[in-house]
Amino acid sequence: MKTPLWWSWWDPSTMISPVLILFSAFLCHVASAGRTCPMPENLPFATVVPLRTSYDPGEQIVYSCKPGYVSRGGMRRFTCPLTGMWPINTLRCVPRVCPFAGILENGVVRYTTFEYPNSIHFTCNTGFYLNGTSSATCTEEGKWSPDIPVCARVTCPPPPVPKFALLKDYRPSTGNNSFYQDTAVFKCLPFFAMFGNDTVMCTHLGNWTRLPECREVKCPFPSRPDNGFVNYPAKPVLLYKDRATFGCHDTYKLEGPEEVECTKTGNWSGLPSCKASCKISVKKATVLYQEKKVKIQEQFKNGMMHGEKVHFFCKNKEKTCSYTEEARCVDGTFEIPKCFKAQFSAFLENGCIRHDAVLK
Ligand SMILES: *[C@@H]1O[C@H](CO)[C@@H](O)[C@H](O)[C@H]1NC(C)=O
Ligand SMILES: *[C@@H]1O[C@H](CO)[C@@H](O)[C@H](O)[C@H]1NC(C)=O
Ligand SMILES: *[C@@H]1O[C@H](CO)[C@@H](O)[C@H](O)[C@H]1NC(C)=O
Ligand SMILES: *[C@@H]1O[C@H](CO)[C@@H](O)[C@H](O)[C@H]1NC(C)=O
Ligand SMILES: *[C@@H]1O[C@H](CO)[C@@H](O)[C@H](O)[C@H]1NC(C)=O
Repeated sequence: MKTPLWWSWWDPSTMISPVLILFSAFLCHVASAGRTCPMPENLPFATVVPLRTSYDPGEQIVYSCKPGYVSRGGMRRFTCPLTGMWPINTLRCVPRVCPFAGILENGVVRYTTFEYPNSIHFTCNTGFYLNGTSSATCTEEGKWSPDIPVCARVTCPPPPVPKFALLKDYRPSTGNNSFYQDTAVFKCLPFFAMFGNDTVMCTHLGNWTRLPECREVKCPFPSRPDNGFVNYPAKPVLLYKDRATFGCHDTYKLEGPEEVECTKTGNWSGLPSCKASCKISVKKATVLYQEKKVKIQEQFKNGMMHGEKVHFFCKNKEKTCSYTEEARCVDGTFEIPKCFKAQFSAFLENGCIRHDAVLK
């Protein structure tokens, strides 16, 4: 029996066709197993999608910059070629740069760069405070967060006025407020004494330096000096700044201030006394008084007031020249110098006085 023609035509093909299929399957196997692309190169600040350890030819990957970074040059999309080698990637991801913030009026900015994700730090000069936060960060969007602060001037509200005081000198610099280092001066009401500094200053913390205090201060009635008198206001109590005046009876001299004041420590600024005048016991002598030669008995007929002085002439033992010695009236006592000898007086007065010694 002869086989039909169509069957004989098909016969060889039934022999070849499985071989072809096997061969093409083999080719496919070589391409996928031998020429895959490796894991793509790691670029700083970039991500790869999809990320795997190998890719078949024809598969695609996409590089993109991480948030906060922007791409510079190069391609982003690559297809795995039959060679199994990724093309050279010139993509670069660089950080976003925030606006320049290196200058803060009345303050200082500390920074390294203004790039994502850095922070910068602010401080204000003395007398200014940060209105805002002390640091800001450059965000993924390239903006500062929080906003850049400003250095605002420190102000002090009007100073409180202490009891029994009033503001003598106060001029606010801005509206009702004062700026750092502005001052205000207080004064106490009459007869109140100030304790502390009358001047206060607006501090860098926005408050005033320590306020002074005004206190009532009483002084005792001043006592009358012996042989003298005292005058003071006719009031039930004597207070700070009240005054008293002193005087002495005839022939007495006031030693100390004539007028005194009640001080803030509650005593008088001074307490004078009355000093007695001196009787001159020498019978006859010429002396120097206020650089003139005078006869002592005539000059001081009514006595010598306390504190007055004369110079007596004395004889120098070795030399014939004379020298002078001072004598002073001290509260009723007048001592004649020991060197003074009445009998020599006339001679010495006209002798070789060494004027340099006299005038000393
Ligand atoms: C402080 O900042 C706030 C908000 O930015 C603003 O409203 C205010 O006026 C600022 N104050 C000063 C004293 O600058
Ligand atoms: C100052 O203070 C007074 C009284 O408190 C007020 O009436 C006035 O408006 C203030 N002035 C300013 C500029 O703030
Ligand atoms: C009083 O305070 C002012 C301002 O604070 C200062 O300049 C001055 O030296 C102070 N005076 C005294 C006596 O402390
Ligand atoms: C000023 O304020 C600061 C801080 O609040 C405080 O420590 C200081 O004692 C105040 N100064 C005066 C004089 O009140
Ligand atoms: C007044 O009193 C104070 C303290 O008590 C004292 O230091 C001062 O010397 C006194 N002044 C007079 C003039 O007595």
